[in-house]
Amino acid sequence: MTIKNVMVIGAGQMGSGIAQVFAQSGFHVYLNDRDDKALAKGINTIEKLLTRAVDKGRLTEEGKAETLNRLTPSTNLEDAKLCDLVIEAVVENMDVKTSVFKQLDTITPKHAILASNTSSLPITEIASATNRPEQVIGMHFMNPVPVMKLVEIIRGLQTSDETYQTIEDMTHQLQKTPVEVNDFPGFVSNRILMPMINEAIYTLYEGVASPKDIDTVMKLGMNHPMGPLQLADFIGLDTCLYIMEVLHEGFADSKYRPCPLLRKYVKAGWLGKKSGRGFYQYD
Ligand code: NAI
Repeated sequence: MTIKNVMVIGAGQMGSGIAQVFAQSGFHVYLNDRDDKALAKGINTIEKLLTRAVDKGRLTEEGKAETLNRLTPSTNLEDAKLCDLVIEAVVENMDVKTSVFKQLDTITPKHAILASNTSSLPITEIASATNRPEQVIGMHFMNPVPVMKLVEIIRGLQTSDETYQTIEDMTHQLQKTPVEVNDFPGFVSNRILMPMINEAIYTLYEGVASPKDIDTVMKLGMNHPMGPLQLADFIGLDTCLYIMEVLHEGFADSKYRPCPLLRKYVKAGWLGKKSGRGFYQYD
């Protein structure tokens, strides 16, 4: 199957990065968000990153113009009727995602593949909201998408081999490295990463050390490029909490209990870098 037109739904930090990578790889991309402001912010972020790439000599002015030409902003989900592949990157919430997939199932052409960038939610359950579960798959990009090479490709229970192969081949076209993963809470990446982040939050909650010192231990002591609390701020504390809840519920094991401090920050609207405050403050 040949994929030409792609829609990315959700123009937040992940959706805008995914749209940029597809447009830079020659696909025509509709970047969709239900919120005009979020859409404008997403397009603006892509423009800024492309300009930076030109300044650093990694992209020509012509390449930047061509990439932007392949990007169409959209606030109308009906635009998905023109697409061979849709990648959903809306908030990490099952009800919101299944509602989007139900609509996509009626709008998109029969051959279209529907993918989710979910960090942790079961692909099998998302697929069951559609009448084409064999064409539903997880494509879990890493943050920041234009930089990170990995894409976890998650097979739902009913995902067909043909769908899997199409997505794996396309991931190579994006100059990314695909890894095949079965549908289990948190997949591989977040099953390992999130409990570490959650433990760092417990370490702060119990007064063992300051945020900066916790991050310094993990950076200098374990050679991590970024400390776990700073990484949590970059991911978004709401997203971290959603993922911990998925692990906690999915495995029914208290070792995945989200730290009360994480809940408190999310309730206060301290969502990390995107809201200006999390474990650190941002301009
Ligand atoms: P975000 O909060 O930055 O962006 C979400 C966007 O979706 C917002 O612009 C919002 O207006 C839009 N949206 C919400 N409902 C919508 C709907 N029904 N139709 C159209 N647009 C809608 O979130 P972020 O961080 O980009 O996360 C998106 C997804 O990617 C989540 O499932 C998350 O778990 C996953 N993810 C996040 C990573 C991270 O580091 N933040 C890494 C990998 C995956």
